[in-house]
Amino acid sequence: MNNKNPEHIFKEIPTGKVGWKSPSNIALVKYWGKKSGQIPANASVSFTLRDSLTETIVEFSPAKGNNFELEFFLGSDSNEKFAKRTSDYFNGLADSFPFINQLDFKVYSKNTFPHSAGIASSASGMSAIALCLCEIERKYFGNSISEEEFFKRASYFARLGSGSACRSIYGGLVTWGEIKGRESSSNLFGSNIATNINPVFDTYHDSILIVDSAQKKVSSSVGHGLMNSNPFSQMRFDQANNNIKRLMSVLKSGDLEEFVKIVESEALTLHSMMMTSSPYFLLVKPNTVSIIDKIWEYREETGIPVCFTLDAGPNVHLLYPEKYKNEVLAFINSELLKYTVNNKVIHDQVGKGPVKLEL
Ligand code: DP6
Repeated sequence: MNNKNPEHIFKEIPTGKVGWKSPSNIALVKYWGKKSGQIPANASVSFTLRDSLTETIVEFSPAKGNNFELEFFLGSDSNEKFAKRTSDYFNGLADSFPFINQLDFKVYSKNTFPHSAGIASSASGMSAIALCLCEIERKYFGNSISEEEFFKRASYFARLGSGSACRSIYGGLVTWGEIKGRESSSNLFGSNIATNINPVFDTYHDSILIVDSAQKKVSSSVGHGLMNSNPFSQMRFDQANNNIKRLMSVLKSGDLEEFVKIVESEALTLHSMMMTSSPYFLLVKPNTVSIIDKIWEYREETGIPVCFTLDAGPNVHLLYPEKYKNEVLAFINSELLKYTVNNKVIHDQVGKGPVKLEL
């Protein structure tokens, strides 16, 4: 019998499970604005984090009906919202992964950071799911590809789930979006900057100060969409692409004064785009501003190159080199904790990227 006969393949639908642990990332140059097909309006660069992770296990068995069924468990609780989001995502990928409609799925996902921390979980969550899909494909549906191709494919499909998720597939410093003069860069997947990085960035710290633990008020998709009519959008996209160029040279030289300027300006521009959209919105809180003021004061007084960045929310990411860890931790404890919810800080640092779970 011909093993390539689709009918034969159909009869041999496997049961199995795969798992991946995938990190969140924090953008230094921000992705804010996109074109159809999840194409970013400008290139972005991020640090992949080490400890803020989503761990996802996907169990599957032959489909009972003509289409797949999917259950989603967040921790030990069944979660309808994530089941719907993941089902929509799988439906969109059924042409690329024909096995999707031949299987039923149980997805078990948990985050190492508290759900209430207000940290975006879409980058770690969607990258973990995309890795699991690619793993099912290579392990059970006989697609033998190189490791490099595997991660590129996972990044491509993670992007379709959530843009920033495509950067979480790689460790260290990761770009996404076309960058002039960088051949490996693409709008379709992330790639890590493996060479010519100043060692100071290998161990950079990110302490995330939780100012508000509420869920996001404006979804990223809506925020990105508003850039289509923002009067400053083109200037912003040009600025981001220029900041990438500046950052690339800083990543080589280790010029932290310039690093601070680029990173803080990116964070403030992101929020100024939100404030100048229609409808406009303001996601920083008074305590966000108090923390920023304190950081500026501290940097002025000590010369320690600690800086902040922000996501699309009020929490503050404090970025600093390993060398100043003790000083900055003392500063956080004495000056900044009072602006956080219940003294909540998540101490993280640059990480090496996703890890496959041996099940
Ligand atoms: C402010 O990746 O969450 O964190 O593609 O619509 O899922 P979607 O958006 P998302 O946007 C992230 C925006 C950001 C900046 C960044 O991570 O680059």
